[in-house]
Amino acid sequence: MSVFKTAVIGVGKAGAGSNAKGGGHQIGYAHGMMYQRIPRTRLVAAADINAENLAAFQGKFAVERGFSDHRKMLAEVRPDIVSLCTYVGLHRGMIEDCARAGVKGILCEKPFLPSPADCAAVRRVAAETGVKIVVAHFRRNRLAFRRARDLYNDGAIGQPVLCVAGVEGWDLSEWGSHWLDMFRFFHRDQPIRWVFGQARVRDSRGYGHAMEEHAIAYFEFENGGKGFLDGGRKMAGDQTMTLLGTEGQIQIFREAILRIDAPTGRRVEDFSKEASEQGSQPWDRMLVDLIAWLEGRTEPELGLTNMLKTSELNLAAYLSAVRGDRVDLPLRDDLAEWPVEILARRNTERKQ
Ligand SMILES: NC(=O)c1ccc[n+]([C@@H]2O[C@H](COP(=O)([O-])OP(=O)(O)OC[C@H]3O[C@@H](n4cnc5c(N)ncnc54)[C@H](O)[C@@H]3O)[C@@H](O)[C@H]2O)c1
Repeated sequence: MSVFKTAVIGVGKAGAGSNAKGGGHQIGYAHGMMYQRIPRTRLVAAADINAENLAAFQGKFAVERGFSDHRKMLAEVRPDIVSLCTYVGLHRGMIEDCARAGVKGILCEKPFLPSPADCAAVRRVAAETGVKIVVAHFRRNRLAFRRARDLYNDGAIGQPVLCVAGVEGWDLSEWGSHWLDMFRFFHRDQPIRWVFGQARVRDSRGYGHAMEEHAIAYFEFENGGKGFLDGGRKMAGDQTMTLLGTEGQIQIFREAILRIDAPTGRRVEDFSKEASEQGSQPWDRMLVDLIAWLEGRTEPELGLTNMLKTSELNLAAYLSAVRGDRVDLPLRDDLAEWPVEILARRNTERKQ
């Protein structure tokens, strides 16, 4: 079986990683470890504009070739699969560079794309070149979430009503995009009809873009189920999220424990042991699925077609705040910038 040459662009902060809002989480290292675990791939090169970050990553993963310019790396190394581990505003250009340099598969970090125009451009370049793109919403592969999705849909708590979560101190994108994707997953990726969003944007910046201080997204799926995400404030209780049905609810704790209140009573399903046995499988499965897709299998759930819809939801919430109106999907908007920048400019103008 062939071995795929792989590379990482945007390797991550050198030294200790950070959990702070703004960057420095070193997600490139998670991709580096994933390539090390999968024998069908060999990590041969990395590119980063920061020499210290690049040297640290090359040392840690024994990567032979390092480049300050990713285009030079693509031309000289000609990798088969590339991980894009840098910020949302850089993804589209890097995807186009990779696709035109003959890269076959891309594993791109979330949030995936910063504007409707970027979504259209990536759809175009994928159609033109055949490049296959997977987005790192790996939480779809977690056992507790898969079980919760089945329970939510099989009538255990009646009809699906609402998925709800709040992310204390965060936003709708850098953290919140995981939960927007998860709410789509819980509704079996049905089309979304409309999205309402509102945002308080002041001077915060991180990951190369304007960030909200607090924002919300409220949206409806085709079957009438809804999602509500508070990007900034947590909900009461220590659950990670709640799935409400007409006859009960499922609360999810730490992405591993389900507390199910059904007409038959309360029960707890604890996936902590399985999750620890599962280890890095949710990550590895993304890469295994991408390889299978490259070799002729069908596009995975985390493939471009489905992931553009998570981006669309994410962007629609901000566009609703920008336009002061409900946004109906599919998105018909050709805005070519991160909508939060518009809200940040409005805030600056208000102060002048
Ligand atoms: N999937 C997940 O669970 C998960 C977890 C953490 C972060 N992320 C996402 O990963 C992305 C990166 O976040 P991070 O905190 O790991 O970042 P980071 O700050 O640790 O690393 C980003 C790297 O990109 C490099 N870079 C910047 N501009 C570049 C360019 N033009 N060319 C090449 N390299 C460039 C930086 O020098 C840095 O090394 C963010 O979008 C974040 O939301 C995803």
